[in-house]
Amino acid sequence: MVLRHDRAEVVRDGKEGLPMTSTAPEIDSAHGILRLANAFCDAQALLTAAELDLFTVLHEGPATEEDIRGRLGLHGRGLRDFLQLLVALGLLEERNGRYGNAPGAERHLVGGRPGHLGGFLLGAKANLYPVWDGLAETLRVGLPRSAADGFAAMLEDLGELRRYVRMMEGVLQPLIPRIAEAIDWSRYGSVLDVGGCRGGLAGQLALAHHGLAGHVFDLPQIEPLFDEHMAELGTTGKVSFHAGDFFRDPLPRADVLILGHILHNWPLKQREHLVRAAFEAVAPGGVLLVHDRMLDDERANIDNLQASLIMALVTEEGSEYTIGELAELAGTAGFASVSHQPLDENETLVMCHKAGA
Ligand SMILES: C[S@@+](CC[C@H](N)C(=O)[O-])C[C@H]1O[C@@H](n2cnc3c(N)ncnc32)[C@H](O)[C@@H]1O
Repeated sequence: MVLRHDRAEVVRDGKEGLPMTSTAPEIDSAHGILRLANAFCDAQALLTAAELDLFTVLHEGPATEEDIRGRLGLHGRGLRDFLQLLVALGLLEERNGRYGNAPGAERHLVGGRPGHLGGFLLGAKANLYPVWDGLAETLRVGLPRSAADGFAAMLEDLGELRRYVRMMEGVLQPLIPRIAEAIDWSRYGSVLDVGGCRGGLAGQLALAHHGLAGHVFDLPQIEPLFDEHMAELGTTGKVSFHAGDFFRDPLPRADVLILGHILHNWPLKQREHLVRAAFEAVAPGGVLLVHDRMLDDERANIDNLQASLIMALVTEEGSEYTIGELAELAGTAGFASVSHQPLDENETLVMCHKAGA
């Protein structure tokens, strides 16, 4: 495997299935370093535009600064610079004094459309942006910045829970078509998404592959959101919800089990438990699919290093991990073989195969 360090990017040859392009900023000059130090301003411009729902408003058609001011109920101070910054960042286009969405913004930032990333952006603004300010403290004392009982409290607050779910789906949504094509689903009769939340993935798999029975295992507080989402997708009755705690309750049996964005929340001991529980539940000849933003051995992927630090900031002991670390857990649990493939630039899918009967 070859690591090539170009000035602007670190590229890893994808021979072992980890394609890695991770763009590093240009930091050879004082200007470059200052630009990186101010990168949070670019992030806040995007997150604020999403918070104001600017892209959804501009989906109706290009608008003047004054139109935008009126429609978003803004004061006006700073607005021109804000809009021009979004133009400079490539999120908006300006023609004859009217601002419109650039193609990427139109594809991914307009509310209510497939591919909409707004849920993730709003979650990032509310939950991730503030905790990054405490990175030094986490590095000093090893504790997250989120309150220890924050997750339990959120489960009891439907509004917060909805925001959390939308944030996760913003990350998961673009991966769903890739997971739907990653294996030959016609070989299997059932799939169980463990920690499958409101069933976005299980529902889409059931729609894409007739004859595949979908199951979701998640905490009981998620069930009302699951029922709502199945009605939206038209998969009511095609996907079943199993309420439980995956550290206390046995997992229902299925031909294919999925652990997506689950293992990175927990330390090694709990990961071991989950992979062992998955081995027990997966049918002989079946497969456990694990996907996460796994780290490459050289730890060269900027996006995934950031993802791993987010785990340090928001979970007690979670972190991203390498394919090798997961393969070891899978071997110890009893899986016969492990293979892997990239799902996108950052996300890896590991397939743990259980021997047939
Ligand atoms: C980070 S989300 C991942 C959701 C989804 N699999 C994805 O890829 O986006 C973690 C999920 O695990 C669920 N979860 C957390 N702790 C759990 C537990 N002890 N038992 C069952 N589900 C749990 C959460 O409710 C949430 O839906």
